[in-house]
Amino acid sequence: MSVRSDRAQRYAHVTGWGRYAPAQVLTNRDLERMVDTDDEWIVQRTGIRERRVAAAHETTASMASVAALRAIRTAGIEPDDIDMILLATLTPDYWMPSTAALVKEAIGNTRAAAMDVAAACSGFVYAYATAQAYVTSGMARHVLVIGAELLTRFLDYSDRSTCILFGDGAGAVVLSAADEPGGGLGLELTTEPQGAYMIWLPAGGAKSPPSAETITRGEHYIRMEGRETYRFATRTLATTALAAIEDAGLSPSDIDLFIPHQANIRIIEAVAKGLDLPMDRMYVNLDRYGNTSAASVPIALAEAVNEGRVKVGDHVVIVAFGAGFTSGAVTIQWTADPARGIAGDAAVKPDDVQVRLPVDWDSVDPIPAALAEVMARPGPVDVPLDDVVPGEPEHAHLEVSE
Ligand SMILES: CC(C)(COP(=O)(O)OP(=O)(O)OC[C@H]1O[C@@H](n2cnc3c(N)ncnc32)[C@H](O)[C@@H]1OP(=O)(O)O)[C@@H](O)C(=O)NCCC(=O)NCCS
Repeated sequence: MSVRSDRAQRYAHVTGWGRYAPAQVLTNRDLERMVDTDDEWIVQRTGIRERRVAAAHETTASMASVAALRAIRTAGIEPDDIDMILLATLTPDYWMPSTAALVKEAIGNTRAAAMDVAAACSGFVYAYATAQAYVTSGMARHVLVIGAELLTRFLDYSDRSTCILFGDGAGAVVLSAADEPGGGLGLELTTEPQGAYMIWLPAGGAKSPPSAETITRGEHYIRMEGRETYRFATRTLATTALAAIEDAGLSPSDIDLFIPHQANIRIIEAVAKGLDLPMDRMYVNLDRYGNTSAASVPIALAEAVNEGRVKVGDHVVIVAFGAGFTSGAVTIQWTADPARGIAGDAAVKPDDVQVRLPVDWDSVDPIPAALAEVMARPGPVDVPLDDVVPGEPEHAHLEVSE
């Protein structure tokens, strides 16, 4: 992309949204066969009942590409209309190139700038905020913002305190410039580095490059201080959301729906209590997906809209927390026709998108041994789309600025 010369102040509206969840389901009962845990404990302490697991041929880039193309179809634009691709992930396909670069090629975009954003579970909100800055400043017209994770390949399936929490998936939105007011109205981003080692992946980076020893010590798996993380989340999530709401000149009672990071139902209940709101203002789908890190908010947003939970004119708050410790929230005034998302999803099948693989290089089998049996099992089909009419959605209602 080249920097646009006209820099008129604009609004950044969500015009497209889409998500992708792998077909394979890993239930709490499956986990009972792997570690010393039980369904009742997991449901009571977290609210999670099952999560999705990417198949051997899937990667963060492949899941991201499906969600991204669905968001582009929902927006009623072409892949080449996208000026910039921001992909939030803590599980990139490779250290380099960026996963965003792989997605750009897979979706058939020839002109966008593409980069990854690293802010762990807050990554999508950070990427959204960055996209909003590009759009409202007039530097970009359409920005694709993706959150995608393949966490099940970074989990120690002998550590019951972490392996029960996480799952795989991807979600995406298109932010588009318009002169009409709406879209992102208020914003808050925070980082508290004293929490740096509360959730971390010790080896593989410059401090501790991968070696036989780091692998023997299991330092290539996610580690977490659960109680400290829980305390941070309950302390921070409501205050971060409140700051973004006040930045928009609103109060919590003005918000029609919160899309919180889907980590733990008790954390979401604490947010509702902290803001003095009933739980029906909080969207929850963690029972079906677990914590998908940077993918959690965009998957939840896309599902909430497709389920009819969001109307034109509604105020929606996306809010997340994660390793770093980071947190972020955006207050959004919804302006797109919510009905467009289902047709956008139906217009793109997972096989429609191929991420190019390297020549003369074969990765070893990516599936952790403990998951192999579950992966071999036939899973339910992905999204139940049979009841929708496939096809391209009509062009978006919103007039996008030229
Ligand atoms: C991880 C988490 C669910 C644990 O719940 P908790 O109520 O804090 O539980 P504790 O860690 O205090 O452990 C309580 C007991 O359950 C045990 N336990 C931990 N995991 C278990 C499991 N999967 N099954 C059964 N028992 C388990 C512990 O060993 C401990 O036993 P003990 O009392 O004999 O020592 C919770 O701390 C949490 O959700 N933290 C935030 C995590 C998060 O959101 N991370 C992602 C950030 S983006």
